[in-house]
Amino acid sequence: MHLAGKRILLGITGGIAAYKCPELIRLLKKAGAQVHVVMTESATHFVTPMTLQAVSANRVALELFDPAAELSMSHIELAKWADLVLIAPATANIIAKLAHGIADDLLSTLCLATSAPIAIAPAMNQQMYRAPATAHNLAILASRGTLIWGPDSGVQACGDVGAGRMVEPEALTAEIHNFFASSNELTGMTITVTAGPTVEALDPVRYISNYSSGKMGFAIANAAAKLGAKVTLISGPVHLDTPNNVERINVESALEMYEVALKYATQSTIFISTAAVADYRAVNIAPHKIKKEHGSDELQLTLVKNPDIVATVSNLESKRPFVVGFAAETDNVKDYALKKLISKNLDLICANDVSDKQIGFNADQNALTLYWRSIEEANGNKECSLPLANKQELANKLIIEIIKRYKASKNEQKN
Ligand code: C5P
Repeated sequence: MHLAGKRILLGITGGIAAYKCPELIRLLKKAGAQVHVVMTESATHFVTPMTLQAVSANRVALELFDPAAELSMSHIELAKWADLVLIAPATANIIAKLAHGIADDLLSTLCLATSAPIAIAPAMNQQMYRAPATAHNLAILASRGTLIWGPDSGVQACGDVGAGRMVEPEALTAEIHNFFASSNELTGMTITVTAGPTVEALDPVRYISNYSSGKMGFAIANAAAKLGAKVTLISGPVHLDTPNNVERINVESALEMYEVALKYATQSTIFISTAAVADYRAVNIAPHKIKKEHGSDELQLTLVKNPDIVATVSNLESKRPFVVGFAAETDNVKDYALKKLISKNLDLICANDVSDKQIGFNADQNALTLYWRSIEEANGNKECSLPLANKQELANKLIIEIIKRYKASKNEQKN
């Protein structure tokens, strides 16, 4: 395992698994990494700073207001120094603090001050792990791109059995290795993702829209950024945090999304269209609130079709990126998806059955079937299925499939 030159800031919080940290540091150092340790006050009850200083060969940082430490490596310098911040073990408390941006000690302050990726290895009692607050906080962190490794399941220090054990040092070292190995896989690639609904105004206070949450598009942007791509996320109004290292452009209407998308698409290697773009908009947006008092019992709205963003991108004559579309269908999923693949001139289409309440619009989980045109068989198509998973896991797999198809199409063009 090679981690030569990698700079790892290891944050240790107060869980029994902290006693495994000297071994973790030993493995990281053996792989060639440099390690600086930051401990919370509670962590010092489980493992001594002296031990950690001896194995890391660096001074252990303990307090935010430590004049001696600030003279050598200040907390801001430490935050800038790291290539990766790993918090292991990560208690429910630090997870809550990270989720809500609390900076009341050295470690939580460093996490806000760093631009390095943050990984956590949760470790706590199984009931604390299953508590809705912890689950919610972990979901917040996952949506922001925090890497969450574990927890493992098994017998716990308190005698309970369940999920909450810290991932073992060997496995954490392997995760770190995989992280660095994959973090530049897409370096040099520019990926544009559209996400969320569009909002089509009727008057200053009303609009037509849909139930799209944006979760799938945000998860894809997150997955691509983690692999080192330069990602632009063009999003309609949603309630989601921007993933790390993603440039986000907020838009409201389909026309706005169209303009921004075309600008970025021509500078992109891959264009992924997950947005649920409104098909129609009002011909005229009333300048004042439409009043019911003076109107009749019926109100007629005249709508006009919005431009098809993904079809416009895939019909670009120059600077056309590799184009991926989505098809959310309630019936005849495969037929409709294949028709869209052809009619919109896409390279790949990802179909999901939104009649199933577990998946699709607004759900946390999704399952997709991907279709693309087969070059070998005239009129033939190829497909692959990505089974039910939470949207982030699914997005991680999807981005790998998209890259595979993109590379295959490049090769086909060459031959
Ligand atoms: O035709 P339909 O809306 O079902 O097609 C879905 C695909 O087309 C999605 O990838 C969606 O993002 C894209 N789309 C678009 N602009 C539109 C309508 C749909 O980019 N006006």
